[in-house]
This record gives sequence, structure tokens and C-alpha cells, in this order.
Amino acid sequence: MTAIDVDVTLLPTDWRDQVLALAEERDAVILAHNYQLPEIQDIAHHTGDSLGLSRLAAEAEQSTIVFCGVHFMAETAKILSYDKTVLIPDERAGCSLAETMNADQLRAWKAEYTVDGVEPVVVSYVNTTAAVKAETDICCTSSNAVDVVASIPEDRTVLFGPDQFLGAHVQRTLQRDNMHIWLGECHVHAGINGAELKAQVDADPDAELFIHPECGCATSALYLAEAGVVPKERTKILSTSGMVRAAEETTAKRVLVATETGMLHQLHRVNSTTEFAPVNRAAVCKYMKMITPAKLLASLRDGTDVVDVPADIADRARQSVERMIAIGTPSPTAE
Ligand code: 13P
Ligand code: SF4
Repeated sequence: MTAIDVDVTLLPTDWRDQVLALAEERDAVILAHNYQLPEIQDIAHHTGDSLGLSRLAAEAEQSTIVFCGVHFMAETAKILSYDKTVLIPDERAGCSLAETMNADQLRAWKAEYTVDGVEPVVVSYVNTTAAVKAETDICCTSSNAVDVVASIPEDRTVLFGPDQFLGAHVQRTLQRDNMHIWLGECHVHAGINGAELKAQVDADPDAELFIHPECGCATSALYLAEAGVVPKERTKILSTSGMVRAAEETTAKRVLVATETGMLHQLHRVNSTTEFAPVNRAAVCKYMKMITPAKLLASLRDGTDVVDVPADIADRARQSVERMIAIGTPSPTAE
């Protein structure tokens, strides 16, 4: 029996009613990332990508935010709504990408590229700890990374971290030479590789491709498109909410989806006629799946786990996060 099965068998049959009643009692809004378990996505007040959820956290009227996602996302909500209580149903839900860079490493990297007292501009993906955000000039997410780097004057050196595949996507799009990229990666997305993608494209040449820029295969997808193996107009590099938007619009019979498999739930929800097939069925983020219905119920009942960020770090990190939410097209979120 898997941990998820155990969790579900312990659930009261009316857990959904209990969650909604407790949320109202606690004056809480429940936010869920697109990679959460389907039951969590369905019960949440809003489901979306990191950028959309950050915006919602900043605007929330409720006094409590229950963040169903991973820890850096809940920390971002706390940074933006410091006077609110932010809960995450399991504080052990981490992120392998956020672990690839710490604040000391970032300070040393900045020193390396500081010339005559002029520091480089640091752009950090939102998948970073609050301490790294405090050392950052502008944060970005997958949906606005290109716009964020494009907003930096061309003569300034840019340090982009920690995701190397997203960094490569930005560099390729903007053709920017004075941009240095940290060699971090997400183990889930790096595992979706070019060979797998090529095999699937060969098996189904008419399919469209939706590819998250964190994927190891993003480079191959663009190569395949350049080489004419897949038509360029059918190869889309998209954030998770960009995929929802594209799924609403597509008329393709079949779409190959390269990202964490939790994404498929929202894609089926908005389009029931297209077949959405994962490029890698094993692309499951074990951290995202640590948030279960039973833990959500316990979180609302007991007020656990509280997310805290030291005030001095939150104050410095807030500027970089606020710059991030001001740039780029608002991401759609589902109610
Ligand atoms: P999005 O910003 O596209 O929601 O992705 C977040 C994430 O953690 C991807 O692994
Ligand atoms: Fe982090 Fe990867 Fe999980 Fe996203 S999928 S939360 S980047 S470990």
C-alpha cells in the first residue's frame, strides 16, 4: 500500500465538507499548485502556477493562507503577506531545485562578477529559499523569466539561477551574451530527457508538444523543431499555467506533455476532447505529493505547519518578489 492509500483510508468520508467548513471558520483561503494531487486541486479555492499563486497570496483578503505546494512557495506567500498566518500541510515538502543554491554560494558568485564596485544583476527563479531571495535583485517564474531578464539594461551582467534549463531557454530567446547561468536542476524535470521525447515524437508525429522550460528535453525540443522533425508551431515551451491556457485553445487530437504529471488533471479539466499524454509517466514530484487530503484537514484543524521567515530576510526578499509579480502577463488560475 502506498503512503497516499494509507492517508486516504484514514480520511472521514465527509472530509471535503470538513475542509471547507474549517477554512471558513479559520478565515482561510486554500491555494494549490498545478502539481498537487487531483483531490487537493479540486478542493482548493484557487489552483495555479507559482506566479499566479504568488499574486493571489499578495491580494488575499483572508487572515490565513493554506498553501498546498512546496515550502518555497509557502515562504513566498509569507514574504508577500507578512501579517497573515501561512500554513503548509507538511513543512517537509521541499524542492530539489531550491536545494541547489544557498545564500553563501550566491554571495560568492556575485563577488566573482563584481567589477570596479559594480555588482551583477541577480535573477533568481522563485524555486529558491527566502535567504537566496534576500540576495536577489529580481525573482522570476517560468512564465515571466524571459520578460524579467529582458527588463534589465543590456550593458549589465546578469547572474541567473538556479535552474540551468530555464536559464538556457531565456538565453536562447534573448540571445544575451552577458548572462551567466547556475548549474542547478530539478530532478523531476531533468529526468524528462531528449531521447524519450524523440521516441514519442517518432511514434506520434502529429502530436503537439507542451514542454516546461525546466525540462532536460527543452533543448532537444527546440532542436527537433529547428531540424523540422516537429513543426515549430506545434512545439510550445510553457509554464504550468501557460499549459492550461494552451490546452483551452488547442484543437489537436493528442498533446505530449513534458512536466510533472499532476499537470494532466488541469489539462483534462479544461479540455476533454484532446488526449494529453505524459512524455514520462514517472515524472512525479514526491515533495508535491506529500500534501494529502488528511494533512490538509489536520492543517486546518490544528493550525499546522506554520511557515515563518525572519523579518530581516523577508524585508530584503520582498523587493525581489514584488518586482517579479509586477512583470509579465498574469497567469490564469482555476477557482
Ligand atoms: P510553475 O512556475 O510553472 O508553476 O512551475 C513551478 C515548479 O516548481 C516547476 O517544477
Ligand atoms: Fe521542485 Fe522539481 Fe518538485 Fe518543482 S517539480 S517543486 S522544481 S522538485
